[in-house]
Amino acid sequence: MRTQVAIIGAGPAGLLLSHLLAQGGVDSVVLETRSEEYVAARIRAGILEHSSVELLESAGLGARLRAEGDEHRGIYLQWPDERHHLDFVNLTGRSVWVYGQTEVQKDLIAARREAGQEIVYEVSDVSLHDVDSDRPYITYTDKNGQTSRLEAAAIAGCDGSFGPSRSAVPAAKTFERVYPYSWFGILADVAPSTDELIYAWHPDGFALHSMRSATVSRLYLQVPNGTDPQSWSDDQIWDALATRLGHDQNGWKLNPGPITDKSVLPMRSYVQTPMRHGNLFLAGDAAHIVPPTGAKGLNLAIADVALLSKALVARIAGKDDRLADAYSETAQRRVWRCTHFSWWMTTMLHTSGDPFDAELQLAQLRWVASSEAGATGLAENYAGLPIFI
Ligand code: APR
Ligand code: PHB
Repeated sequence: MRTQVAIIGAGPAGLLLSHLLAQGGVDSVVLETRSEEYVAARIRAGILEHSSVELLESAGLGARLRAEGDEHRGIYLQWPDERHHLDFVNLTGRSVWVYGQTEVQKDLIAARREAGQEIVYEVSDVSLHDVDSDRPYITYTDKNGQTSRLEAAAIAGCDGSFGPSRSAVPAAKTFERVYPYSWFGILADVAPSTDELIYAWHPDGFALHSMRSATVSRLYLQVPNGTDPQSWSDDQIWDALATRLGHDQNGWKLNPGPITDKSVLPMRSYVQTPMRHGNLFLAGDAAHIVPPTGAKGLNLAIADVALLSKALVARIAGKDDRLADAYSETAQRRVWRCTHFSWWMTTMLHTSGDPFDAELQLAQLRWVASSEAGATGLAENYAGLPIFI
């Protein structure tokens, strides 16, 4: 089998890349280890920054997002006894949208199906060959046990943090920070108790009140690494959330409800550079991981493939290599900006147990909430980065 771009991974990076390439007249085949049902149901963060919404809209993927997503002006930042609203629209002219990654993924699958795009699910033994030549290819085993070979002009490694693409870049440089805490996330069938997301610093640990819809809430608690989600009862979870989010303070109440999903996510920052080797290009989680505080993971994947699709269309259809040659360096500028922002939000909001850290965090939170310069810095990074920086 031959195609112009062989894409490994049918997450948001791989599917959006395939969609944008098709719009530029470049064919692709997507290979995915999991089933379609699995990739369409994965639960991940649900915040789209302004430029991600613009990009999805301009690619014809904005209809359900506009109809069912929820536009938010900002967030609440809080610590015991104080809650402050940061209004991103007033501060930067940009908003964010609450629209689950699961929904983005479903829209991408539907759009690729409508276009007749080939997505080969449930493959195994994916290996990359000759990526530094003009005739790179992939070998894999399909779900019937048949071994196949897929040749392409370029390979896009969109296979997340566990796929084979990142290790096919020889002598890559890697940067990593592992955090000493995790997020315990729940989904609950209850209306959100807040109009905007609440990011809460608390001596017991960070808490976040997010949401998926008018009837579904998503909440998180900072917990020690290695926590078993089944070791907490539903009552213990709601009690900890109520304490950390400030139930009964200034008349605010947290409404509990039936919990439909519990999971624990470890947190780390990871960057690999370069994001290109010969005709292999990395995008999304294959090249970088951010901790979830600030919800940059999906937005960064979208920004990577916005750049990469242009670079591959120019290289393959226009015989112009300039964007492909600049891809890694251009993408890394945004990667490091978001790596810094996610690290900053994470270390400002999670308790370490050290009283000196706690006082610095509170001083920083008070400054961000009370200074227009401080608030604008957070708002610009959260909502306002242009797609090309
Ligand atoms: N062959 C084919 N596909 C693979 C392989 C492989 N060997 N290994 C992994 N995959 C698939 C995974 O099953 C997954 O569907 O690659 C896909 C990668 O998708 P994501 O993990 O969603 O990564 P990405 O598309 O880069 O999206 C980034 O996901 O983790 C979140 O916070 C992150 O929101 C961000 C988004
Ligand atoms: C989520 O809704 O899952 C979410 C929201 C904001 C974050 C992280 C996760 O910073």
